[in-house]
Amino acid sequence: MKTAIIYESKHHGSTKKVCDRIAEKCGAALVPARNVEGTFEWEKYDLVGFASGISFGKFYDNVNRAAELIPGGKKAFFIYTCARNDKDFSASIAGIVSNKGAINLGSYGCRGFNTYGPLILIGGMNRKNPNEDELREAVEFVKKIEVENEP
Ligand SMILES: Cc1cc2nc3c(=O)[nH]c(=O)nc-3n(C[C@H](O)[C@H](O)[C@H](O)COP(=O)(O)O)c2cc1C
Repeated sequence: MKTAIIYESKHHGSTKKVCDRIAEKCGAALVPARNVEGTFEWEKYDLVGFASGISFGKFYDNVNRAAELIPGGKKAFFIYTCARNDKDFSASIAGIVSNKGAINLGSYGCRGFNTYGPLILIGGMNRKNPNEDELREAVEFVKKIEVENEP
């Protein structure tokens, strides 16, 4: 099973922390979203994850742009870190992928360190996230998808 995760993690690296753990435990290849256009070999991977911090309710622009390039029929999943994990922030990018005829296998989201705006004055929020439990859950999420989608 070959899995790649296309990611961007530009606020405090919280999403990258999740991706690094998945790469370590599942052997997934990590690909910066800004490098995808013109170089990413979609056909080499059985599963493609899109991972991002959340900005104003959506995945980062570079990740959305990469999702626009997904071939029809490709299996995709979504991972994100956010300030308040109280809704599914993958809805917008999942719509992009579905419009391309790709298959949505689900999403995993957890909290990430956030110092946006006046939060910086109080040292930010979620300083300790993603925590060990969240990192483990993220790995379990990807492992389950890999088992359920064995070629
Ligand atoms: C400009 C900006 C906008 C944000 N918008 C949201 C938001 O709409 N909802 C949310 O839950 N978190 C929001 N956040 C928090 C980030 O999604 C969170 O800190 C995330 O862990 C950043 O991921 P990264 O460090 O991997 O880039 C925002 C942060 C910034 C800096």
